[in-house]
Amino acid sequence: MTLAELDALPLGGPSLPQERRLVTPIPGPRSQELLARKAAAVAAGVGHTVPVEAVAAGGGVVVDADGNSLIDLGSGIAVTTVGNAHPKVAQAIAAQAAQFTHTCFMISPYESYVAVAEALNRLTPGDHAKKSALFNSGAEAVENAVKIARKFTGRPAVVAFDHGYHGRTNLTMGLTAKSMPYKSGFGPFASEIYRAPMSYPYRDGLTGAAAAAKAISIMEKQIGADNLAAVIIEPIQGEGGFIVPADGFLPALVDWCRANGVVFIADEVQSGFARTGAMFASELFGIVPDLVTTAKGIAGGMPLAAVTGRAEIMDAAHAGGLGGTYGGNPVACAAALAAIDAFENDGLLERAREIGGILRARLESLQQSDPRIGEVRGHGAMIAAEFAHPETREPDAALTAAVAKAAIAEGVIVLTCGTYGNVIRFLPPLSIPDDLLNEGLDVVADALAAH
Ligand SMILES: Cc1ncc(COP(=O)(O)O)c(C=O)c1O
Repeated sequence: MTLAELDALPLGGPSLPQERRLVTPIPGPRSQELLARKAAAVAAGVGHTVPVEAVAAGGGVVVDADGNSLIDLGSGIAVTTVGNAHPKVAQAIAAQAAQFTHTCFMISPYESYVAVAEALNRLTPGDHAKKSALFNSGAEAVENAVKIARKFTGRPAVVAFDHGYHGRTNLTMGLTAKSMPYKSGFGPFASEIYRAPMSYPYRDGLTGAAAAAKAISIMEKQIGADNLAAVIIEPIQGEGGFIVPADGFLPALVDWCRANGVVFIADEVQSGFARTGAMFASELFGIVPDLVTTAKGIAGGMPLAAVTGRAEIMDAAHAGGLGGTYGGNPVACAAALAAIDAFENDGLLERAREIGGILRARLESLQQSDPRIGEVRGHGAMIAAEFAHPETREPDAALTAAVAKAAIAEGVIVLTCGTYGNVIRFLPPLSIPDDLLNEGLDVVADALAAH
């Protein structure tokens, strides 16, 4: 697209008309043209779930090249939490881009990187001394958290959990549980990765204490605490199905880690930054992780990620051991400072809780009349419905896919997830107006009723 063509498009941000508008079938002709070019030019492994050419987004909508306006209940997978093209974020990006776009923080440092680190040190759980390091993606943050934990402890092993998702690089594929589509055919994977059972109340029926005892027993018997550098877990699992562990599960793991010199890493890449109605999901469970990985919502859509944690652990890596050419890019840092300002000062934690109330009430009332919704779970604007056969709880991936597909065809962006592909997750931007959120849920309810 030329600059002139770009200029002719509607501006994104909250001033976009906040409406669902379908002027063509999905995908329309312009989108189909782009998808044909994509098929010819882009590697087949890079998929897409919503077949439209995005040209603008903001508030609670994504507008496509054919003039359709879709309700956004996905936020680009939990990224545009503050809202797409948020005015403060867009302004900060433009201002920083006009100053300088890169020096490499490892060559000539700049203030915004340090300010983001200070903000992360202040905002992440716990009032101990903390330090941060910035990276480009969630996977890169996870890789570095593991590097740091290994250097600090001098131990090799890492424990990840059933249903966990941590990224697509080699180490993070190894940490990720699900084979298709994330791992299949891409091995061999890094060594010294072990898997423990996750607390999944809907399916294991265990209390948090009992589920933790099972996981701890595996760590003690199969690995041995002396060999274990880190336990990494998503406080609420994202791709695995928005699984919320039973009360007491996470605190028991943290206590065991602390008693055994094991670094507890909370992967808050998806659950962090106001998504759950708390700044970090760890707070909901009363835990203070040793290290926290963040990305996604941190910078309003710009690529930025971080590891934040106990200063003595973070400082274990020698100078030059952490970093990367682009890590903590100044434009991404400017965006993050603007997004963090919005998280802290624009009532977004409260807004996430309000959105959670709307989502939960609607989905639970649907569940009353449709027992194929096995469970509604989550916190704040991170809520999911798991679909299962009512008598057997057998996962119903076919129904889930059909409902999501029908909702998208009607102009509502919903995402699926889950080890068994049987979960629809709701991750709206916090800038979505109530009426649009309710309309999106109406469309999902109609899609469910029709299948
Ligand atoms: C919990 C969690 N960790 C790590 C990642 C990987 O992040 P990225 O896709 O930015 O590499 C994701 C992405 O979905 C995630 O949800």
